[in-house]
Amino acid sequence: MIPDPCIMVIFGASGDLTKRMLIPSLFELYSRNMVPENFSVIGFSRKEWDDKYFREIMSESIRTFCDPDCVNDESVSKFLGNLFYLPGQYDSEESYQTLKNKMDDLDKEKNIGGNRILYMSVPPEAISNIVEQLGKSRLNRNQSEDSWTRIILEKPFGHDLESAKNLNNLTRKYFREEQVYRIDHYLGKETVQNILVTRFANGIFEPLWNRNYIDHVEITSAESIGIEGRSGYFDSTGSLKDMVQNHLLQLLGYIAMEPPAVFDAKSIRDESLKVIQSLRPYEISEVEKMVIRGQYTTSMIKGEIVEGYREEEGVPIDSRTETFVALKTYIDNWRWGGVPFYIRTGKRLPTKVTEIVIHFRATPYHLFKNKEDMAESYNQLVIRIQPDEGILIKFAMKVPGTLLKVKNVNMDFHYSDLGDVDLPTAYEKLLLDCMLGDSTLFIRNDQVIASWEFVQTILDVWNSDPSFPLHGYPAGTWGPDCSDDIITGKDFKWRYPCRNISDDGTFCKL
Ligand code: BG6
Repeated sequence: MIPDPCIMVIFGASGDLTKRMLIPSLFELYSRNMVPENFSVIGFSRKEWDDKYFREIMSESIRTFCDPDCVNDESVSKFLGNLFYLPGQYDSEESYQTLKNKMDDLDKEKNIGGNRILYMSVPPEAISNIVEQLGKSRLNRNQSEDSWTRIILEKPFGHDLESAKNLNNLTRKYFREEQVYRIDHYLGKETVQNILVTRFANGIFEPLWNRNYIDHVEITSAESIGIEGRSGYFDSTGSLKDMVQNHLLQLLGYIAMEPPAVFDAKSIRDESLKVIQSLRPYEISEVEKMVIRGQYTTSMIKGEIVEGYREEEGVPIDSRTETFVALKTYIDNWRWGGVPFYIRTGKRLPTKVTEIVIHFRATPYHLFKNKEDMAESYNQLVIRIQPDEGILIKFAMKVPGTLLKVKNVNMDFHYSDLGDVDLPTAYEKLLLDCMLGDSTLFIRNDQVIASWEFVQTILDVWNSDPSFPLHGYPAGTWGPDCSDDIITGKDFKWRYPCRNISDDGTFCKL
């Protein structure tokens, strides 16, 4: 499906996201003829750039970040002809008048029909000014009965429950909910969408997908990078708000939801919301036991010193911001009652991996009795979200030979086995869906609030108790050792997709 002609205004166009993600993704779509011919982008931000300079920067970013197979001088230059730039102040009425005139001109010149996407790629504190000004200048409205205006909001959607409610109220003042597209780029990942296909297009999983057959579920999103110069943002955010409140709770929603009645935006988002609403609220007294926070410390990785979080540029030397979180939670509903869900994320861990591990219950009794064989009776389904996208099932089989020995083997599917299948990036998928008016993979206002409600208790406990433990972990290890302790029962630990890479993997106390 090719979307309607439209103009996309990117607020904050001189920032990193535009260069690294938005323009390269639009270019990839353009190369595959998935954006309409009469399509334009207006970059809007405070920097005094012009069309020529904007195009130069974006040309460089296309050459750096796009698949070299679709980059050639002719297609790049044709694409760049659709890009324009306007410098402006986010709180100045005059700037919005200039923007409006530019949009009207382009609309007429290219016969666009009034369709608009307003992309907020700005720091959270700039959003309220922009939304107010869009409202005042009536840029929030559909230009005619047949045209549409949509607004895309980048995370974070607030920095706590109250600010999220305020942001929702502000957007609601000027936009109808169906105009609002809140991006969580995890939902745009091919493998995340495949969770629903794996679960609901195969007859074999759904009958087992409940508390009768599943012992516990792990969701891990590990990164080997640190904060990459983002101390300003990260130190006031931390991993709980940066990753858990949004990306990882969305993954949880997809893993645990009931089958939707139909495959549409409302049904899918309704079911995912019910999961988040069913998360068991923490008692204040149990937060310390159920939620572990950590911060990476200096360590030696492959002979090189990697600085700890507090040594990163711009981070206060006494910062208590977490770069690691591991938590245990329960979904109090009929399907999942009593099944622990473990969520873990961190920076400067040994590798980059996002995966979901479904641990099935053991066989009811152990027919193969020697101790070595016991561990074999737990099957695991590993859904690898990234980077080695695929699905792995671990199951027991007899080791060929005259003795009766049992061993776990892997049935392993890698997307890369499909040959030169091109996985679209999350932003390609999401930008295209927004142009097509499909909001399935975007977060609804009630989902935002429900996930903040869950996380807020943890934040309240952390904020009210300055001595709440913050465990150090050497960069390059799998986080504080005590994060293993939250996994209860039968000697389970987290699944470690690869070993520590720190030379000194010992637990380190701050
Ligand atoms: C972003 C976070 O939303 O997601 C970053 O702000 C994090 O801190 C990133 O690095 C991880 O995304 P991905 O797709 O690389 O797993």
